[in-house]
Amino acid sequence: MMFRINSLHVSYGGIMALDGVDCAVNEGEIVCLIGGNGAGKSTLLRAVSGLVKPAGGTIYFNNLNITNLPPYKIVPTGISHSPEGRKVFAALTVEENLIMGAYALSHIDYDVLRFIYDLFPRLKERRKQTAGTLSGGEQQMLAIGRSLMSKPKLLLLDEPSLGLAPLVSKEVFSHIKRINETQKISILLVEQNAAAALKLSHRGYVLEVGKVVLSGSSEELFDSPLLKESYLGKKR
Ligand SMILES: Nc1ncnc2c1ncn2[C@@H]1O[C@H](COP(=O)(O)OP(=O)(O)O)[C@@H](O)[C@H]1O
Ligand SMILES: [Mg+2]
Repeated sequence: MMFRINSLHVSYGGIMALDGVDCAVNEGEIVCLIGGNGAGKSTLLRAVSGLVKPAGGTIYFNNLNITNLPPYKIVPTGISHSPEGRKVFAALTVEENLIMGAYALSHIDYDVLRFIYDLFPRLKERRKQTAGTLSGGEQQMLAIGRSLMSKPKLLLLDEPSLGLAPLVSKEVFSHIKRINETQKISILLVEQNAAAALKLSHRGYVLEVGKVVLSGSSEELFDSPLLKESYLGKKR
């Protein structure tokens, strides 16, 4: 088990956002976290990357207890977080944004930069363009590309398809798959689009008000009554 969370608790001023969550990611896996608004998905990713301090529980990554490390110490262990809302630096160019992603390393790896341009030719074409002028899909690709610059072994992606047109979302999902397959990067993927997330993932967890209510292989989840009723609904 490369990555494991045990009994994670996070509270915001007394309100329990995560109430004893267990979850794991194996090497090479894409694991999705499914859940409605406010379920605690973003909180879980933030706790992993050190942006919020857990009230209890442990987070282990490659046998290292990272539970209370600050973000700048977590990134070099091989965890990178692409937050909700693709926060790119609008006034900086595409390439400057990418370079920022390497801030936690002692140097910039130009092989990684080449891989990112290879993966996203549209970013290469636009490398001198300011990020604020990119389309939503391009900004998402930039956000993912930037998180790859720190050479992660585990990538945390928070709702990469949010607000994107269906065709553009599909493209983003296929890029995620390619990153996983060609770079052997494990991915913890938060998505509201359960059908798309399960299609992409090996396993998944369903989170409801801070607790895991169901977990299993993507096939199992796809066929489960809970998913069908509450998350797969009318889609597809
Ligand atoms: N900074 C914060 N301060 C107080 N409450 C928060 C904060 N961030 C999130 N919450 C609360 O924690 C719960 C989980 O939020 P979040 O992790 O963002 O859910 P999700 O990503 O699944 O939509 C929600 O009830 C939300 O209102
Ligand atoms: Mg969220």
